[in-house]
Amino acid sequence: MTLTMEADGTTMEDRRRFLQSAGAGAFALALGVLPHRARGAGEGGKMKIGIVGSGNVGGALGAAWVKAGHEVMFSSLNIEHDRELAAQLGPNARAGTPREAAAFGEVLLVSVPYRALPDVGKELGELLKGKVVIDTCNPFPGRDGEIANWARERGAGLASAQLLPGARLVRAFNAIGAARMGAAHEEPGRVGMPIAGDDAQAIAAASRLVRDVGYEPVLVGGLAMGKYLMPGTPLAGEHTPEEIRRIAAGLEK
Ligand SMILES: NC(=O)c1ccc[n+]([C@@H]2O[C@H](COP(=O)([O-])OP(=O)(O)OC[C@H]3O[C@@H](n4cnc5c(N)ncnc54)[C@H](OP(=O)(O)O)[C@@H]3O)[C@@H](O)[C@H]2O)c1
Repeated sequence: MTLTMEADGTTMEDRRRFLQSAGAGAFALALGVLPHRARGAGEGGKMKIGIVGSGNVGGALGAAWVKAGHEVMFSSLNIEHDRELAAQLGPNARAGTPREAAAFGEVLLVSVPYRALPDVGKELGELLKGKVVIDTCNPFPGRDGEIANWARERGAGLASAQLLPGARLVRAFNAIGAARMGAAHEEPGRVGMPIAGDDAQAIAAASRLVRDVGYEPVLVGGLAMGKYLMPGTPLAGEHTPEEIRRIAAGLEK
């Protein structure tokens, strides 16, 4: 199938899906002009990104965004680790507490073990209100305990949204190994990144950041579809954007 790319990098197919899932009014917002500060470095703008959880995934993506020209603040439970990480990346990287990272970022990446999400939600509190949050977190009962069973039953997208109240959540970067995330820019656009969200502007901002590290974002639907964005589902692993669209079309909504 031939897909026509639009100016913002979405395809007609992405748009059709989104119109179905989120309504035309919300989508019009996504197509509208985002404030300049919310544009990705790849499109001439620099974003401020707060990272909560600077482990395998947060560390790799944060480093890739710094290389792409964004400003990043790393945070975790170990600020010394975050200071070392930032020092290796130069002046566009810094370290702070999770609350400082949340205040700093116009977009947040939350990338912690799922069992830590309730604490993150409480710790960040009002700082989450209206914030674009990219959620990489996957619930694994063996690692995360009972909350993972609850999240799997509810669906990871809707569960994360409940644990991070007020955030404009987008699920992304959930089922590709962290070690691959820093290398995607070597062949930009070859591998697709399934994303799911309900908020049009948040989807647009997250899409730019996905693209800035080398993946082609593919919107598979609203947060309810976030249940498929985790290891062990047909969307997991590396697929071309076209394959993701085909797989997603066959998934039960
Ligand atoms: N690894 C992968 O390939 C991969 C791929 C896709 C998605 N994921 C998912 O993404 C999430 C992160 O995975 P990861 O492999 O990056 O994990 P990780 O290496 O264990 O890193 C987790 C990070 O979260 C921090 N953290 C824990 N509790 C916190 C809290 N309450 N507040 C702030 N920070 C906190 C940890 O800080 P400390 O080190 O100071 O404890 C650490 O920096 C997981 O949910 C995972 O399932 C992983």
